[in-house]
Amino acid sequence: MPQQFTATFIEREEALPRNAIVRLAAPRAVVDAAAPGQFVMLHQGLAAGRDPLLPRPFSIMRATRARGAGEPDSLELLVFTGGRGAGRLVEARPGEPFAALGPLGSGYQLGGRVSRALLLAVGHGIAPIVALAEAALARGVAVTMLVGANSADQLLPLPYLPTDAEIAVATADGSRGHHGAVTDLVPEYLEWADGIYAYAPEPVYVALREALRAYRGARTLPPVQVAIERGMACGVGVCLGCVVQTKGGLKTVCRDGPVFPLEQVVLD
Ligand SMILES: Cc1cc2nc3c(=O)[nH]c(=O)nc-3n(C[C@H](O)[C@H](O)[C@H](O)COP(=O)(O)OP(=O)(O)OC[C@H]3O[C@@H](n4cnc5c(N)ncnc54)[C@H](O)[C@@H]3O)c2cc1C
Ligand code: FES
Repeated sequence: MPQQFTATFIEREEALPRNAIVRLAAPRAVVDAAAPGQFVMLHQGLAAGRDPLLPRPFSIMRATRARGAGEPDSLELLVFTGGRGAGRLVEARPGEPFAALGPLGSGYQLGGRVSRALLLAVGHGIAPIVALAEAALARGVAVTMLVGANSADQLLPLPYLPTDAEIAVATADGSRGHHGAVTDLVPEYLEWADGIYAYAPEPVYVALREALRAYRGARTLPPVQVAIERGMACGVGVCLGCVVQTKGGLKTVCRDGPVFPLEQVVLD
């Protein structure tokens, strides 16, 4: 069940240009309930008369119980700091409170039969993909992460990634790893993977679908789950501001998603 809670700012690490890892203290019930692919809505503080009016959704990268006495239970988010939605988070000081709601949405389903998971991330999609990788590894699932970016400086540095996952990188400018699209790397893992999970902009899913189509008939393809993003107002399925077209009709990204089977989503 999602809860309204106060998330208290602990610290921020500039992990990437214009992106920071933000740690917030959160109630234990929220930390324990959080599942990979779920998100929280964070408000920038109406009380302070701050713009913007609406909260912003952020994927949960890590939900961690306190490691010692006096330590808080916490949520880690990877937050884009270049826009209006995270303005106060960028300036926050330890102890500053933020109105929050979560954990929200329907996340990735690992399923008991998955033993080799192929995870694909672009942009801030790396945050929920790290959460999924860590959950999968903890269950003994072998994990390969394919991470794409425009250039090497847009890749989350290795110390933030799970050490037990195999990691392959693609950059559009060739400054690290494969020179080209991250979806170019998918075919070499299709024989290996028995589940595919992605968080990326929708054009990447179109390319992923094309890469899979080339193999249709040659082998049984693993099921693919992808996360969809829409601007959100309520986060709980009430305002209908976040709908996505699926083969089963319109669905809300905030409550029915953000994770959907790839074959269900109608992509442009
Ligand atoms: C389910 C869900 C989960 C999300 N998880 C995350 C998350 O984990 N981390 C996160 O940062 N955002 C996440 N978002 C997006 C987030 O809610 C905001 O939309 C985003 O942070 C930008 O909002 P803003 O108001 O600060 O920027 P705006 O002021 O609306 O945008 C300013 C400009 O920056 C560009 N921009 C926006 N986001 C980015 C980005 N990440 N990188 C580069 N340019 C960008 C926009 O295109 C725009 O031109 C998520 C959205 C959804 C629906
Ligand atoms: S944000 Fe209101 S229905 Fe999804």
